[in-house]
Amino acid sequence: MKKVYIETYGCQMNEYDTELVRSVLVKDGYQIVERELEADIIMLNTCSVRDNANRKVYNRIHTLRHFHNGDPVMIGVLGCMATNFRQNLLNDKNLKLDFVVGPDSYKRLPQLIKEVQNTGKSAYDVTLSEFEDYADVYPHRQGGINAWIAVMRGCNNFCTFCVVPYTRGRERSRSPRNIIQEAKRLAEEGFKQVTLLGQNVNSYHYEEKDFAYLLQKVSQIDGIQRIRFTSPHPKDFPHDLLHVVAGNPKVCKHIHLPLQAGNTRVLNLMNRTYSKEDYLTLVDDIRDHYPEMIITTDIIVGFPTESDSEFEDTIDIMEKVQFDSAFIFKYSERKGTIAARRHPDDVPEATKTHRIVRLNELQNEISLQKNRRHVGEFQEVLIEQESTRKSPHDFQGRNDGNKIVIFPKADYRKGDFVRVQITDATPNVLKGKIANEEFAA
Ligand code: 5AD
Ligand code: SF4
Repeated sequence: MKKVYIETYGCQMNEYDTELVRSVLVKDGYQIVERELEADIIMLNTCSVRDNANRKVYNRIHTLRHFHNGDPVMIGVLGCMATNFRQNLLNDKNLKLDFVVGPDSYKRLPQLIKEVQNTGKSAYDVTLSEFEDYADVYPHRQGGINAWIAVMRGCNNFCTFCVVPYTRGRERSRSPRNIIQEAKRLAEEGFKQVTLLGQNVNSYHYEEKDFAYLLQKVSQIDGIQRIRFTSPHPKDFPHDLLHVVAGNPKVCKHIHLPLQAGNTRVLNLMNRTYSKEDYLTLVDDIRDHYPEMIITTDIIVGFPTESDSEFEDTIDIMEKVQFDSAFIFKYSERKGTIAARRHPDDVPEATKTHRIVRLNELQNEISLQKNRRHVGEFQEVLIEQESTRKSPHDFQGRNDGNKIVIFPKADYRKGDFVRVQITDATPNVLKGKIANEEFAA
């Protein structure tokens, strides 16, 4: 039983964790395969942030079990659902799961798998640790252009809607030395872009070193040409971090700044610890430092008790800020969170739907206008892949602001930086043509 197939759901932290899991398994002699049918062991690295993520995984396990009925294949659940739903997962006789392992226990995977093989019983470990930072595991990345680096794990914010503090445990930061070593090795391996990850990157701190220090240090590494980070919390966006983002040419001019709601009373109920005005002041501050900064956001509609007029504050802030793009979600009650205990999920589904449709329409218009402003510009684009099936003659890459740029193929490869002139725009992508010379090898 040595061939493993892993499916990843959810956020970029989960993508990164899958790379850690691959590394742990390969070191123990396992082989990672790309097709479920070749596998002896199937792992689902799951997300629990919203109910539809959960349901998707349950359906998938049912399908897998049904399909592999009678096969000697092992199926296990990793990630946030493991911590959040261990009991349900293990007690559900239809799922017949072999193991359930939470985000801080991946180093024990080989041992747990052996336990299952020896005893014929399922095994689990969903203990959360205050210290596990996987500093000694070098992620097993699969080629690619961008390398994720988790600079911290867990979260101490306890936004009332959010399950992350319960599924991933307390916040802990890795040492800058360890992170820089990893980034140097990535540069040697040919990665040109790194994305520093944390549930709340601006609370990164290690001894007296903060996130601004870390960004600067990573930017001094030869070979790393672009640095991204996600996500900061608007409550404590330090000025020196803003200086580094605005002033350091290697740091991309894009800030993903989750707003969640526009109304101050709702923000208080969410425990976001900033007001509508604080958020607007921060956006002004960002644009004072760098007027063209790309700003994107996350929004939740229909948080308990959010009234129609309070929802109008979200519309108002979106009109004022003019985000480049926004991920908009319906509130989804998560078991064990503060909101689930204190605030009944009382906004009707139809109201949530109405609100999300309105916001998506508004944001589409804004995104289109914003993107149209780029038409005519020359931009540096890092080629990520041949474009989708729809346009096999195109390349797809991203500009400094993290926007997708599509342009006709030429004699370049994935991982090349090219200069592209933007010729057209939709709400989601920019289109362009190569403007000849390459920026860098
Ligand atoms: N319901 C809806 N959306 C949520 N998010 C987090 N928790 C919930 C929830 N319970 C959204 C937030 C967060 C993004 C990653 O997911 O907007 O920023
Ligand atoms: Fe959830 Fe808030 Fe932590 Fe983000 S910062 S993961 S929204 S608790």
